[in-house]
Amino acid sequence: MPLAKKPEGVWAMSERIPDSVVEAIRSKVNIVDVIGDYVELSKAGKNYKGLCPFHGEKTPSFNVNPESQYYHCFGCHAGGDVFKFIMEREAIDFTEAVRRLGSRVGITVDLRPLNPNEQAEAKKKRRLAEIHTVAQRFFAEALFIPEAATARAYLRRRGITKPMVDLFGLGYSPASWETLYRALKDQGFSDRECIESGLVIESSRGEGAYDRFRGRLMFTICDEHGRPMAFGGRVLDDSQPKYLNSPETPLFRKGTHVYGLHVARDGILTSGKAIVVEGYTDVIGLYQHGITNVVASLGTAFTEEQARLLRKHCQEIIVAFDGDAAGEAATWRSMDLLAKQGFAVSVVTIPGGNDPDSFVRSRGSEAAKQLFSQAEPLVEFKIKSAFLAADPRTIQGKVAIVESVTPILSNIDGALERSEYLRKVARQLGVEPSVVQAEVRRFEEKTGKLSRTRNNTTQRRKNRTRPVFSQARAEQNPLEDSVIWLEKVVLHGVLSDWSRFSQAYSALGDAGFEDALHQRLWRNLCQLAEEGKLAGVPNRIERVNDGALEALIDDLNRSAPRLIPGQSFDSCLQRLKEFRLRQDVRDLAARAGSLGDAGGSGATAISQLKTLLVRYKELKDEIDRVCMY
Ligand code: UTP
Ligand code: MN
Repeated sequence: MPLAKKPEGVWAMSERIPDSVVEAIRSKVNIVDVIGDYVELSKAGKNYKGLCPFHGEKTPSFNVNPESQYYHCFGCHAGGDVFKFIMEREAIDFTEAVRRLGSRVGITVDLRPLNPNEQAEAKKKRRLAEIHTVAQRFFAEALFIPEAATARAYLRRRGITKPMVDLFGLGYSPASWETLYRALKDQGFSDRECIESGLVIESSRGEGAYDRFRGRLMFTICDEHGRPMAFGGRVLDDSQPKYLNSPETPLFRKGTHVYGLHVARDGILTSGKAIVVEGYTDVIGLYQHGITNVVASLGTAFTEEQARLLRKHCQEIIVAFDGDAAGEAATWRSMDLLAKQGFAVSVVTIPGGNDPDSFVRSRGSEAAKQLFSQAEPLVEFKIKSAFLAADPRTIQGKVAIVESVTPILSNIDGALERSEYLRKVARQLGVEPSVVQAEVRRFEEKTGKLSRTRNNTTQRRKNRTRPVFSQARAEQNPLEDSVIWLEKVVLHGVLSDWSRFSQAYSALGDAGFEDALHQRLWRNLCQLAEEGKLAGVPNRIERVNDGALEALIDDLNRSAPRLIPGQSFDSCLQRLKEFRLRQDVRDLAARAGSLGDAGGSGATAISQLKTLLVRYKELKDEIDRVCMY
């Protein structure tokens, strides 16, 4: 296929600028003038004030101080020196910022030569960037060869217009084995460069090489300046994998880019927020319908690096995901991570089994805008989910809900916000706010207000060291410390009526207890049962040679945990099993969420994910069964 000649120089030089030059430029530019080009500034005392260019606002909280030559926004806490401002506003790196400001004051940036290693590395990256630029053009042109009729038909069917094809760099990879490979060689790229780019794969027999992407609709993955870094290729039929993505290369590390950012940048900067979706096609579909501040996470949970990249552009994020459970699990982790990076996160669930793209296509852009404008703050969304997961009209349901909202409430920093949510939860549960508050306090004592990552249940379980069961505890309200209390009921029940053992065992297996000591007792019971030593004589187990255990058994034998009217051994056992299952589901979700970060190959991650999903479904079904009572 004919290709236009050689690409332009696409890669800024990355040599290092001497500090003296940086300082010379700093002393010559005035930050007020520079920022004045972007923001209308007016004098206010010693400072200058204006509308912050980093977040949407109506009253000015953006300050520039001519004395210190720093800027600061009291609204979004953006701040820094003149280089930082240019870097953030233009989304360029430091070198480029120094260059631009240098040329403004007539200083040509004089570069320190790189050492040979740095030179080789820089050259390699430059060549890889070039090869991607060439490949991108190749795919774009190939979209119009006869063979690509299926791809064009597909785009038409999905309603993706030509301007979107150009803007997002869509293309087609020919179905034959070496078309791109040959074109790249024609352009002077070596075999090594072709293979290193990930676009060409060396045949395993060591002879020859072939194109990675064949017969696919091509999506270009760019860095924030729009330079192609990698590709994703979608099948045009139902074969697998649906998307094939570039492997990691020196140019493209997974988890560092955000799909569509270069296109969405303006939309994000002017609206002050970014909408995060799952799919390439969601980004394109929404953009085409006038929603221009959309990016995608590239198929995995968000990484810290991606969050930081976005943080340069805005401080508000709307996460939009399809209503299905699989999406929920991975997105959950991303949302926490984004919140931790200082974003105000809110959430939209796309209704009607749609993804954002199919929603905007079927319902139109007004409906989509409406939907996004009604995004719920993350905290609210989490609380709502907790209420959906259990029945707030039953005591058991209340217990379960309180249990899952306490970490959420405890995580809210603002006192006012926290107390408002606390009241709301109490109201919805029909209990006194003081009850919920007591739960939160208890939770915080328990975790020592330890981990900000305390949503992680396994972490929580590990951190838990529980004192020996005491008399005081026996008097506790069952609403408090519910799981531990349930465990006590079950253990007491089994100890006082051994015929219940097998029922409890079949519900919980041999690892059903949260409290470490409870679990130890349970293990012992299981073992004794297995050895047949306990036929009907529960009080004979004091000979376990374990002081803590003996104290626990004593306690349990002495005082039965108080049951609320309507509760029984059976219902408590059910509840405990339900709790276990829910925790397994959460752990599973966490594992699914971390799959993408593990750095394994995409194929193994996907097959692991499939296994997890099957298990997830089993657990969910089992929860449904258990919760029937
Ligand atoms: P989706 O399956 O939702 O893809 O996966 P999509 O972009 O909406 O595509 P359509 O609507 O079926 O055409 C969401 C994202 O997950 C990544 C891609 O980034 C995709 O856009 N993904 C998905 C992969 O990387 N590999 C896969 O096999 C599937
Ligand atoms: Mn989709």
